[in-house]
Amino acid sequence: MCELLSGFIVFEGLDGSGKSTQARRLEARLKAERDVILTAEPTDNPVGQLVRKVLRHQVKTTSTALALLYAADRSDHLFNPEYGIRRLLDEGKTVISDRYFYSSLAYQGVTEDFEWLKKINSYPYSEYIIFIDTDASSCIQRIEGRGEEKELFDRIEYLEKVRKNFIRVFDNLPEGVKYLRVDGSLDIETQSKIIWDFISR
Ligand code: TMP
Repeated sequence: MCELLSGFIVFEGLDGSGKSTQARRLEARLKAERDVILTAEPTDNPVGQLVRKVLRHQVKTTSTALALLYAADRSDHLFNPEYGIRRLLDEGKTVISDRYFYSSLAYQGVTEDFEWLKKINSYPYSEYIIFIDTDASSCIQRIEGRGEEKELFDRIEYLEKVRKNFIRVFDNLPEGVKYLRVDGSLDIETQSKIIWDFISR
């Protein structure tokens, strides 16, 4: 049996999938009934900030170094004695994260060896995974519609490979992990309702 972090909810999806909107909506709804913290990877902590610079093309590195940076950022995110997810969960809080190690297996899995990625990301699983499954071309349209600079992975061919990797990872989850795939083409309200039914079950 794998280690599983009880009370830890993770949202996953491609860039532009709508997962951050759904994570915020779930946080707002859960807040009425429990102590809930919304967080994200890459984090705002020092290693996460360096990752953001790589994504914005301000720092150049190799794909292998980037995979290691994501894993290092995650170790701090989970185990930092002051603000780590483990500590928050131990205090009885519910934690929602916008991305977790499943993103590393899916995104870095396009260029890096899958077994090596699993090894450097041998972190505990989350109790819940909510995958907002939006097709790559809709995601790219949304990113372009926002008028923001494109980040490192914002290319349709890349995102299509990432989506396949996500599906492979979620097809092979260990027993005990509660997984929900949400059709990202549904309207925002309908998606939120499906997610709420799943979490409050
Ligand atoms: P965001 O768009 O959700 O803020 O994520 C930033 C980018 O980082 C996005 O393109 C996905 C990518 N990413 C990885 O490649 N590996 C990871 O482990 C994580 C957490 C994110």
